[in-house]
Amino acid sequence: MFKVLEVNKSDLKGITTLFDNNYEGVLLEDRSISRESKLEYIIAQFTKGDRFFAVKEADKILALAGLKKEDWDTEHFGIKMASLKIKSIAKGKKKRRQVSRFLIGDVVKTANKEGYQHISIKINPEQKEEIFSLEEADFYYVTSLITYIVDLKGFSQSPSEALPFIIDDYKSKDLTELKKIAYESFSDRKAWSDRFHNDPYLDNRKCDELYVKWLTNCCLGKEADIVLVARKDDRPLGFISAKYDRKIKRFLGKKVASIPLNAVDKRCRRQGIYKSLVYKMLSILKRRSTDYAMITTQLNTLAVRKVWHNIGSRIESLKLVFHKKL
Ligand SMILES: CC(C)(COP(=O)(O)OP(=O)(O)OC[C@H]1O[C@@H](n2cnc3c(N)ncnc32)[C@H](O)[C@@H]1OP(=O)(O)O)[C@@H](O)C(=O)NCCC(=O)NCCS
Repeated sequence: MFKVLEVNKSDLKGITTLFDNNYEGVLLEDRSISRESKLEYIIAQFTKGDRFFAVKEADKILALAGLKKEDWDTEHFGIKMASLKIKSIAKGKKKRRQVSRFLIGDVVKTANKEGYQHISIKINPEQKEEIFSLEEADFYYVTSLITYIVDLKGFSQSPSEALPFIIDDYKSKDLTELKKIAYESFSDRKAWSDRFHNDPYLDNRKCDELYVKWLTNCCLGKEADIVLVARKDDRPLGFISAKYDRKIKRFLGKKVASIPLNAVDKRCRRQGIYKSLVYKMLSILKRRSTDYAMITTQLNTLAVRKVWHNIGSRIESLKLVFHKKL
């Protein structure tokens, strides 16, 4: 008989079955990081939320779930939104299915009781039993994400060509133009299809505005540590941002920067501006002794995939994203 209990971090000490047998990404396969640190990091991913559950059978933990209120999304969309993480560590397909079905049902009940109106989850494609159970619980697919990672030790600046634009730091006078670029880029359904726009229950206008707010927060230093702008005759043509991951530094001891947001004015695409922005950002990060750079993008953003593939990145993770309206 299964029981769902709220548990503490300390209950998870030593559960090495939290490691998948599948590929876990470059960071978790980095041999210079101890197994204990990796386990602490995995546990921290689950326990960062407000509520943390485990399914137990007798005294054995068979699955974990973490439910976290997403304050920023809640404020932006005006509905109470949460993100969910689940992992079944039960042995055998049938058991994993039973356990994840049981856990998801319980977490959804709790979320309902707490007044949540929307839940999102990013899940590995290998977690098939959990995915089937999510679908049974009326979670719907919204997008697929791919994360690339570059080990900056091996990265070298591209051969310098004379560029018809310059790339330098963001300046406050750039903001109006950059907001326009962000608005146009991320509201264009042909070129961009993210989890928010693909959700029929979310207000489209708010989905468009989300990226402008996010860009503004990057420029104000709240969501990014570095913002670079490509410009010609002082007019911004595109931008790229980078943010250091403090959690990875704390748990894994590596300096890792992710790229939260990047776009190029649609009137000047396919001229190598994005490629140059990426090269410049990676050179700066390398100079600042950053170990790795990462970017997460939709599986269908071909230009981003081409650039990151060509600089020798590796795939850190693949995620399917599901939402549920409560
Ligand atoms: C993605 C984006 C930033 C690319 O900007 P860009 O300046 O046009 O890209 P580049 O000119 O540097 O092109 C990079 C590579 O992608 C290719 N490419 C660019 N656009 C492409 C497209 N629509 N389809 C296929 N390939 C494309 C280029 O040919 C180039 O390939 P190469 O390295 O083999 O020569 C831009 O299209 C954009 O802002 N899109 C909307 C927002 C977005 O998707 N942002 C990224 C979020 S992660």
